[in-house]
Amino acid sequence: MTKPADPQTIPLLDERVTFPPDFLWGAATAAYQIEGAATEGGRTPSIWDTFSDTPGKVLLGHTGDVACDHYHRFRDDVRLMTDLGLRSYRFSVSWPRVQPGGSGPANQEGLDFYRRLVDELLENDIEPWLTLYHWDLPQPLEDAGGWPVRDTAARFADYAALTHAALGDRVRYWTTLNEPWCSAFLGYGSGAHAPGRSDGGDAVRAAHHLMLGHGLAVQAIRAARPDHELGVTLNLYPVTPQSDTPGDRDAARRIDGLANRIFLDPILRGEYPADVIEDLRDVTGFAHVHDGDLAVIGTPLSVLGINYYSRHVVAAPVEGAEPEPYWRAPSSWPGSEDVRFVTRGIPVTDMDWEIDAPGLVEILRRVHDEYPEVPLYVTENGAAFVDRVVDGRVDDPERLAYFDAHLRACHEAIEAGVPLRGYFAWSLMDNFEWAWGYTKRFGMIHVDYDSQLRIPKSSARWYAEVIRRNGLAA
Ligand code: NOJ
Repeated sequence: MTKPADPQTIPLLDERVTFPPDFLWGAATAAYQIEGAATEGGRTPSIWDTFSDTPGKVLLGHTGDVACDHYHRFRDDVRLMTDLGLRSYRFSVSWPRVQPGGSGPANQEGLDFYRRLVDELLENDIEPWLTLYHWDLPQPLEDAGGWPVRDTAARFADYAALTHAALGDRVRYWTTLNEPWCSAFLGYGSGAHAPGRSDGGDAVRAAHHLMLGHGLAVQAIRAARPDHELGVTLNLYPVTPQSDTPGDRDAARRIDGLANRIFLDPILRGEYPADVIEDLRDVTGFAHVHDGDLAVIGTPLSVLGINYYSRHVVAAPVEGAEPEPYWRAPSSWPGSEDVRFVTRGIPVTDMDWEIDAPGLVEILRRVHDEYPEVPLYVTENGAAFVDRVVDGRVDDPERLAYFDAHLRACHEAIEAGVPLRGYFAWSLMDNFEWAWGYTKRFGMIHVDYDSQLRIPKSSARWYAEVIRRNGLAA
């Protein structure tokens, strides 16, 4: 991969699909999904350690105890990033590694790990992009009530300030939360994710306290370094009614409210959407929202991260319809439990997620139209497929085609005037896919979990070429 490609084999650059000169090309990972070393360096359990140690919660009983062993192999992994030509690497800090109990003093050994990682990135001209919370809440904070409890927001802000004080001299891009929808609605609604609790009211309270923690963290970091790029990453979906009937259109409005607007409106406008509050009336009152919270949550951001994987197509309820599994589980959608998620029979990834690149153009344009102030980044996009190692190589044409189609979508959005500044492929390498354990592979780099051997897939070689040429082939 380090050898320059044979010019004969490189298809022509499509001049119509070149990106702006300073476009930030990256790849992303998250701490619990790759680091391993779960009990080393002073780290203590997070809710994901507890959850994955609980029989029946993660497929095949997989845990993140070893994962990709990135904690010990980060220098080799940064070398793979340089082979790819990445301009930026998005990773997350494990809260229980740097502040083991979730409160109190920092664990220097934990901070030192991230300092070494960041220094290695900087030495290789790779911009570090740090996410503070990618789902690994220290277990003692969950024992004290978790995200449904207000104090967790204050604990998060302290952790953010402490981490920024240690790494803010060398990291410029800071994301507070990754996909708070998953933390709130899969963690406390359906229970498909850690901590595995199932109560609609708790899910809605968790969403609020996650956003409050975000706002407090943004204020703390901004006070220390007004020049830093600050944002949050949301998993957003275009939501399409199956038909134009009032019932289907209302189902789409409700799911759009619970998936997208319940985060977008407070964070970017400082208000909850009135229709969502109304939809949730029987689930919870909004007594957990205190005066002044929304001003904190709505603290202006300098970037918004969007993770995009697919679209939701929904319809009005039908008597006796079977509930769908996983994120379609009714308990993930308090107040909209009776909405039906519709599958269209179009090609899907190994997650069964429908491949819908136009949906990315749609969501980027919509966010820019409705919340025009903030520059956007695609902080995750990618696909799981079944990969096979043959003669030491992994050919993954489906993943490559997925990236190609979604990058064309990004380009189309830029042409339409969307201030899209960068793109992070999910993921740099195969890793622990939460409740699916290691059974789903999203990486551009294949990982053999027994030997820890890494093999860049053909999509990685292709991506390296895209970055080098700052554009796509004809
Ligand atoms: C979103 C999450 O941020 C990431 O952790 C996960 O692995 C991917 N999507 C794929 O599901």
